[in-house]
Amino acid sequence: MAPATPAAPETSTETAADTVLVVDFGAQYAQLIARRVREARVYSEIVPSTMPVAEMLAKGPKAVILSGGPSSVYEPGAPTLDAALFEAGVPVFGMCYGFQLMATALGGTVDNTGSREYGRTGLSVSKPGSTLFEGTPAEQSVWMSHGDACSAAPEGFTVTASTDVVPVAAFENDEKRLYGVQYHPEVLHTTHGQQILEHFLYRGAGLAPTWTTTSVVDEQVALIRAQVGSSRAICGLSGGVDSAVAAALVQKAIGSQLTCVYVDHGLMRKGETEQVEKDFVAATGVQLKVVDASERFLAALAGVSDPEQKRKIIGREFIRVFEQAQAEIVAEAPNDHPVEFLVQGTLYPDVVESGGGTGTANIKSHHNVGGLPEDLEFQLVEPLRKLFKDEVRMVGQELGLPEEIVQRQPFPGPGLGIRIVGEVTRDRLDLLREADAIAREELTAAGLDREIWQCPVVLLADVRSVGVQGDGRTYGHPIVLRPVSSEDAMTADWSRLPYDTLARISTRITNEVKDVNRVTLDITSKPPGTIEWE
Ligand code: XMP
Repeated sequence: MAPATPAAPETSTETAADTVLVVDFGAQYAQLIARRVREARVYSEIVPSTMPVAEMLAKGPKAVILSGGPSSVYEPGAPTLDAALFEAGVPVFGMCYGFQLMATALGGTVDNTGSREYGRTGLSVSKPGSTLFEGTPAEQSVWMSHGDACSAAPEGFTVTASTDVVPVAAFENDEKRLYGVQYHPEVLHTTHGQQILEHFLYRGAGLAPTWTTTSVVDEQVALIRAQVGSSRAICGLSGGVDSAVAAALVQKAIGSQLTCVYVDHGLMRKGETEQVEKDFVAATGVQLKVVDASERFLAALAGVSDPEQKRKIIGREFIRVFEQAQAEIVAEAPNDHPVEFLVQGTLYPDVVESGGGTGTANIKSHHNVGGLPEDLEFQLVEPLRKLFKDEVRMVGQELGLPEEIVQRQPFPGPGLGIRIVGEVTRDRLDLLREADAIAREELTAAGLDREIWQCPVVLLADVRSVGVQGDGRTYGHPIVLRPVSSEDAMTADWSRLPYDTLARISTRITNEVKDVNRVTLDITSKPPGTIEWE
């Protein structure tokens, strides 16, 4: 579910763990670096490069990483960094643009030589016993992306590696605990990138790999208890991973003070409502209020084909039903503590994309369906605000949620409503639900769930084509399979599924689903195509 807009008490989910700050110099490198640091079991947070150094230091970081970025240090207006950071006694690791900033700030030389290096590059390590490179091969493959090059390291630094083009591709000053590499250790093309990052964290900065999902759960449970006190909270469950894990975490913290609301809009996939009603409740013991509002949604959607119109209607009806459920929860126990808190499954990428970790997330408007109105007078509980999706899944596992919920692929708030191209009717929903269930079953049977990001199954309700089934000619609808691979849904590629899996899905859908006589495969990347068809 998308977050609402009331201001969240930012301190409520602050963490006490040892923190590494990743300074973001643009182009989305910072998120990847932050994830890699966490894979090394050290907690990391992203801050914008515009944050004053004093403010960064006030956060008490145990180390700082300077990310890459698209600029040249010589470009007018390129992001800069106050050299005071390097005098603060905090270990710093500069990568790519961050490396060049470090070099220039400390008196080294970075030339705008026109000697560009892009892509996979051979790196020669000249100091194999150095802090960053110990135990890694003398020749390794790294990912480069730069125009400027460092020709002389700052005084007091040892040059530890070079390439054919760049004489200073890595340097370090162990005494001052300052390290830098010209390349991108965070990308998988850099063969020893993770090892080098871990060398910085463990050897350079002296950190220990202690950040685990168990520690996240313990810490969040304590924070939620402190925040909610004896009040009550409600949480809208969408059936998706984020709201399920957020609710389970809050349930662990405050038990019966939490009530979950599940609005069944009739646009869910086969078995999903039952999964929430039975399996989720069984695993968590949560108090759940299920509102069957499918008639109401269908009536409101009657005659509507325009995708944005559908989203607006579904969003509006959702809010009305949720508000009604909230009023009922209060009315059922009027003498109980007030319902003051709303639990939301906001994730870290949403927080970062909306302004670098300050304030409340603001999700892209077209993803706002299922969001709540601005005037709801709730304080937000957002226990996942610091986590990436894969970490949320691990927390869900830790909390004992069923695998089917934890590993579930993203599913849009407006549900199957935006996977029927044309008007949404009960018959069409039933038909699409069957086709979708078959596709999911076969993908799972083929062991492909983890390989694909999501696989929308779309019904082209306004299209008919001629077919021949049994003894007769048919005039039925096509189904589109849209399997995609992606890291974050911002970009995606179509998944190259095995032909025999596709064949089984196609045969089963055309045999088992009435009125469907054709199955097609969408082979468009994003961009230009979006993941959903509507
Ligand atoms: P697109 O279609 O924009 O989708 O490539 C990107 C991701 O967002 C999901 N999506 C939505 N999620 N409400 C949601 O909660 C929506 O209206 C919506 N539209 C798309 C989509 O499934 C994919 O994961």
